[in-house]
Amino acid sequence: MLETSRRWRREGDSVGLVPTMGALHAGHMSLVERACQDNTKVVVSVFVNPLQFGPAEDLDRYPATPQRDLDLLRSAGVAAVYMPSAETMYPAGATTRIQVHGVAEPLEGEARPGHFEGVATVVAKLFNAIEPDRAYFGQKDAQQAAVVKRLARDLDTGVEVCICPTVREADGLALSSRNAYLGPEERKAAASISAALRRAANSYGAGEHDLERLRREVLEVLEAEPLARVDYAALVDAETFRPPGTLAVLAVRIGKTRLIDNHDLAQPFPG
Ligand code: PAJ
Repeated sequence: MLETSRRWRREGDSVGLVPTMGALHAGHMSLVERACQDNTKVVVSVFVNPLQFGPAEDLDRYPATPQRDLDLLRSAGVAAVYMPSAETMYPAGATTRIQVHGVAEPLEGEARPGHFEGVATVVAKLFNAIEPDRAYFGQKDAQQAAVVKRLARDLDTGVEVCICPTVREADGLALSSRNAYLGPEERKAAASISAALRRAANSYGAGEHDLERLRREVLEVLEAEPLARVDYAALVDAETFRPPGTLAVLAVRIGKTRLIDNHDLAQPFPG
C-alpha cells in the first residue's frame, strides 16, 4: 500500500484517505465523493478495528458487507481499497498505543474506556501505511473527528484532516452502520434523537440562548420516547468537548443499540 501511495505522490498525484469499518452507507460515500473531488487518488480503508471495541461491545456482530462495499467503491472510482487483516494490523507482540489526552477524555471517552485509544492507534497506523495528503472523517462522530485532528497535529503527520457534514435519513436519523440493528419499532423511536436536536436548534434560532434550558428541551424530547434511554446529553465546546458550548452531543440507547448524534445549535437543523 505504502509503495503504491508513494509512487502516486512521486508522480504528482494527491492522495486522499477515507478510513471506514465497512458496511458502507451513503454517509461513508459522501466522504468518498468529497475525497474524489479534492484528490487525484482516493484510498478507502475497510477494517473493523478490534482495538476500539470494549469487551461487552458489538465487535463479533458488527455488520460486514465486503462484496457490496467493493462494488460501491469501484463504482465511485476509488484508486484502492485497503482491507488489512487483524493480524496485519496487530501482529503478535504489537503493544504500542496512541493516547490523546484532553478532548478524548469526556463523553464517549468516559462511556467507552479505551475506545479513542483504539481509534487513535489505528488512525495513526493508517496514516503511516498510506501517507495521505488528506483524510476524511464525518461530523456524525464529532468527538472522534476532534480527536483525530488533535492527533494529526500533535504527531506532525502533515495530513490535512477534513470533516464532512452528517448525512441523514428523511426523518433526520443520522446514517450509521449500527442502524441495521434496529427493529421496526426501534427504528421509529430512533427518530427522537434528531428530533431532540432539531427542537433545540429551532429554539436557539428563535432566540433561546440559555444552555441549560436548551439541554432540558433536548432531554424532554428524548424522555417522551419510551424506547429511548439517554446515556448522555450535553452542550459542549466543539474544541474541548467540555461545557459550556452550543454543540449538542447525544448518546442514546434504543433497546440494545447505542446511537450517537450531534448538532451545533447555533446552526439551523437541516431538512
Ligand atoms: P465508521 O463508523 O465506519 O465510519 C467511517 C467514517 O464515516 C467516520 O469518519 C464517520 O464519522 C463517517 N460517518 C459515519 N456515518 C456518517 C454519516 N451519517 N454522515 C457522515 N459521515 C458519517 O468511524 C469509524 O468507522 C472508525 O472509528 C474509524 C475512523 C474507521 C477508525 O477505525
